[in-house]
Amino acid sequence: MANCKVIAVTNQKGGVGKTTTTANLGIGLAQENKRVLLIDADAQNSLTLSLGYLKPDDLPVTLTDIIQSVIDDKPIPDGHGILHHGEGVDLLPANITLSGMEIRLINAMNRERALRTYINEIKPHYDYILIDCMPSLGIMPLNSLAAADSVIIPSQPSFLSAKGLDLLMHSISQVKRQINPKLKIDGILFTMVDSRTNEAKEIIASLRAHYGEKIRVFGTEIPFSVRAAETSGRGKSIYAHDKNGKVAAAYHALTKEVLEIERKTERFRNDAVDRLEAYIGRPIIRLKAARDFEYYFYEYTPKRKNPALSQYRGMSWPGPRGRWCTGILKTRIVAAYLKKLKEEYTVIEYVGIAADETKRIKDKNYPLVEWGMTEKDCLSYCYRRGFDWGGLYEIFSRVSCWCCPLQSLEELRKLYRHFPDLWRQLEEWDNSTWRTFLKNYSVRQLAARFDFEDEWQKNGGNIRSRAFYTALRQELSRLGSEVTLCRR
Ligand SMILES: Nc1ncnc2c1ncn2[C@@H]1O[C@H](COP(=O)(O)OP(=O)(O)O)[C@@H](O)[C@H]1O
Ligand SMILES: [Mg+2]
Repeated sequence: MANCKVIAVTNQKGGVGKTTTTANLGIGLAQENKRVLLIDADAQNSLTLSLGYLKPDDLPVTLTDIIQSVIDDKPIPDGHGILHHGEGVDLLPANITLSGMEIRLINAMNRERALRTYINEIKPHYDYILIDCMPSLGIMPLNSLAAADSVIIPSQPSFLSAKGLDLLMHSISQVKRQINPKLKIDGILFTMVDSRTNEAKEIIASLRAHYGEKIRVFGTEIPFSVRAAETSGRGKSIYAHDKNGKVAAAYHALTKEVLEIERKTERFRNDAVDRLEAYIGRPIIRLKAARDFEYYFYEYTPKRKNPALSQYRGMSWPGPRGRWCTGILKTRIVAAYLKKLKEEYTVIEYVGIAADETKRIKDKNYPLVEWGMTEKDCLSYCYRRGFDWGGLYEIFSRVSCWCCPLQSLEELRKLYRHFPDLWRQLEEWDNSTWRTFLKNYSVRQLAARFDFEDEWQKNGGNIRSRAFYTALRQELSRLGSEVTLCRR
């Protein structure tokens, strides 16, 4: 299955390093053996120029033609208009005709989704698609945000740009509400940083403090260097132009950070299964629902038994009485697969429930139970064979779905402490759906509780005491104006 990530590099301000970042992050990813497509979605075509296509107006096919074909509902041949750059990335170029497209799009059907329609078609050919956005909040950038899985926001560290960031966040949340609820912010990237001045340091520190809790601010900062400025129009990346310079090193580090975002979630898990597959020397069949968690969470709306709920979209958080995810995303998929197999074969089902989980036993076969192997035995069996599951079992006592509201408070506490990125995702989901995460806690309140626990314990208090709960209740009601209480 295609696993392509679409990143819009965006900021309504010009001259902040969008194009430079798109080119050098893209080529950085290609150097890590990723299949990368860069899309120049700016009529000023600086990405096209910077990759060495110096006469964009002479190009036979550009993004303009592609969008026009989408509007006219004409088929686009595979690879149409795509250029192959010497440093391993593909480019869909742009030229000045794109500025006329803005106006034509306004009257088109699905005007915000034209680029998305195209990208969905070419996704299977790439691991990453980076879109260099136009510096505006107009219809082309809107198309980019509608097509993207996430955004990276290059920004120069200045107090002025902080204002612009607020504006951008506002339009991103609007896109999320109206067009693309899955859109994520990968992070703010500080560019052209002159670290010799104290001012830059102060501004970065204050912006990190201001945004850092809600949005990732990349650890990597791109330093200012004339060597970087020289690359514009030379057709080469910073890696080719100034291989050992500080900007090349910074973009390399950024590439690693961007790869890390994925590694931490889905790809990381597949990795373990890939290794297991190699180890046992047999194919492992991976079953997956056609739609993902977020689709059901936000969009899939069943007929509601409770009419009061009919106004809400999506399944929202699972709860003790509605564990929809286990059914829709797991057991139903397994059952459908087995049903097909059973038409042809006699199927014996073995289920990997451990000997200390016997309450989950039903009418299948449970070899671990027969062998008396507990969860702990199984883990040490794995460890002895070099499978450490990324260290997750060192942190969590049970590794289940990380976003499950039904896991214990203790596991959630660990998620909060060890995986701030995932916690931010939880908060985003929680802020944009109609149920609260837990019956009596939103994700934000839970975070506030965990912080409060830390403080309480630092002062020698016991977090199981009645005094703690009284103080916690006060603390939460103090925060009450910012958080909505139980909507379930
Ligand atoms: N790290 C850097 N140091 C110095 N100059 C840079 C750096 N990054 C980009 N530039 C220069 O700054 C200008 C604006 O960068 P660009 O990437 O085109 O921004 P945007 O796409 O946001 O308009 C360009 O001339 C570019 O060469
Ligand atoms: Mg640009």
